[in-house]
Amino acid sequence: MSFNINQLVKENIKGLAPYSSARDEFSGEANIFLDANENSLGSPLTEDYTRYPDPHQRALKQKIATVKNVEAESIFLGNGSDECIDLLYRCFCESKKDNIIICPPTYGMYEVSANINDVEIRKALLTADFQLDIASIKSNIDTNTKLIWICSPNNPSGNLLKKEDILELLHDFQGLVIVDEAYIDFANQISFTQLLPQYPNLVILQTFSKAWGMAGLRLGMAFASKEIIDILDRVKPPYNINQVTQKLALEALEKAEKVKTYTSELISLREKLAVQLQELSIVKKIFPSDANFLLVEVSDAQGIYDALLQNKIVVRDRHKVIRCDNCLRITVGTQAENNALVDNLKKII
Ligand SMILES: Cc1ncc(COP(=O)(O)O)c(C=O)c1O
Repeated sequence: MSFNINQLVKENIKGLAPYSSARDEFSGEANIFLDANENSLGSPLTEDYTRYPDPHQRALKQKIATVKNVEAESIFLGNGSDECIDLLYRCFCESKKDNIIICPPTYGMYEVSANINDVEIRKALLTADFQLDIASIKSNIDTNTKLIWICSPNNPSGNLLKKEDILELLHDFQGLVIVDEAYIDFANQISFTQLLPQYPNLVILQTFSKAWGMAGLRLGMAFASKEIIDILDRVKPPYNINQVTQKLALEALEKAEKVKTYTSELISLREKLAVQLQELSIVKKIFPSDANFLLVEVSDAQGIYDALLQNKIVVRDRHKVIRCDNCLRITVGTQAENNALVDNLKKII
């Protein structure tokens, strides 16, 4: 495959002179900072947040590189992976001209961000068993197709997509294949990050919001070639990752073992929950999951959703989503939360 990132990036981004922040222009050591118009007297808070954070998140990227076994220069950090999704459109898709391919049912932000950026969306539905329809994807590709969005494990179905299908796309497609691995820590498969050296058109998204349990801090990661990361870096707002997030993420990465413990506990809770749900007559089907949630087909999704909500239990009603008729998406909770859910479902019956 002949892949040239310069043919993919938008013209205005190719020539973009990025904002040069005060912290960019300073290097070396200093004790007195009079360069960034911060408040030299401080803030009402006890912790010191006077200074802008590192715009390049150097320490954090270095640590992520070690934990994830990737090069630091292959990492981009976003304010949640939702920011990475938006930036990929802003860097690579000309509005009203280019198009992208999504594979519904899938994560909703690929479509929302395309609409915000005024980029045509082409849909190649997943098959009935929630796998990629490669023929349909390929028939949608033309010279203006810039991005193909793959979510594996997929939200909302929960399953991993076949690795060989993704590899076929990476091999044959001249644009970017984005593999969103938000739930990869729950799956029994190694990350696509290990294939980065082989595929210059591969972008992988991961997040601290799921297995790492830090959704409130907003930290997402994109892994790609240095050339792609450079482009994303040019377009991002200068200080997109705040100081608290950088500090706490570094702290969490020092305790990566704890994440493994939580993850395996959640996987066993998921299996137990599936068994409990299977016994209920209102449950018609539980789809296999490689994530921290279950897609469950029930007798009446909307009615059950409403009844649960009356008892202050909220799940995700997916019955209007294609291929998810009468389906609820249920996040695996603590044992007590799962028991409460099952008890309530029994009462509904
Ligand atoms: C597949 C997928 N990708 C990305 C995200 C967004 O992640 P973040 O919290 O990092 O923005 C989600 C959130 O639910 C998701 O399910």
